Amino acid sequence: MMTAFEIIRALAHDATVGVIITDTTILPPGPVILYANEASGRLVGRNLQDVIGRNPRIMQGKETRRSTLDTCHRALIAGERFHGYLTNYREDGSKYRVEIDCRPLRAADGRIENFVAFERAVTRRIGRPTVSAAGRYETGLVSDDPLTSALRELAIFKHG
Ligand SMILES: Cc1cc2nc3c(=O)[nH]c(=O)nc-3n(C[C@H](O)[C@H](O)[C@H](O)COP(=O)(O)O)c2cc1C
Repeated sequence: MMTAFEIIRALAHDATVGVIITDTTILPPGPVILYANEASGRLVGRNLQDVIGRNPRIMQGKETRRSTLDTCHRALIAGERFHGYLTNYREDGSKYRVEIDCRPLRAADGRIENFVAFERAVTRRIGRPTVSAAGRYETGLVSDDPLTSALRELAIFKHG
């Protein structure tokens, strides 16, 4: 039987949404990145060879909010989904806003085998701020590859 990791990897290969799969080590040196698709390489501005084997903290910088990371950490520890908006940094030091949905992948017996994150770039909406975080951001291209369509059906992202 295919694991969730294998199924997602097969779908993610040419998806336009960034997909990152890690092991289950929450504390440094984990979570170790085991798989990252091409779109995530473009998103994080790094070669995939430089991402595999590292942990996602390499994307963080001065303006990455600690309180959001604490929320993420607590969700990972509890085996729950984390959805949020983070400021990430590319290898060249430029920053970008990213919407991230991170969740545990469980085996049939409930054991967590991996974590997966779906990530896409968002920009701040011009104009009056709204109450919800989702309303403050908009995404660029809406695309129709199978994984992006599936994520939309599942309402993984907040809009678009
Ligand atoms: C699959 C996956 C993808 C992640 N992607 C990012 C990311 O793009 N940017 C980021 O700042 N943190 C990301 N994280 C969160 C960090 O790895 C880490 O969990 C977070 O910094 C909180 O833990 P800490 O308090 O030990 O730093 C990701 C975590 C997982 C499991």
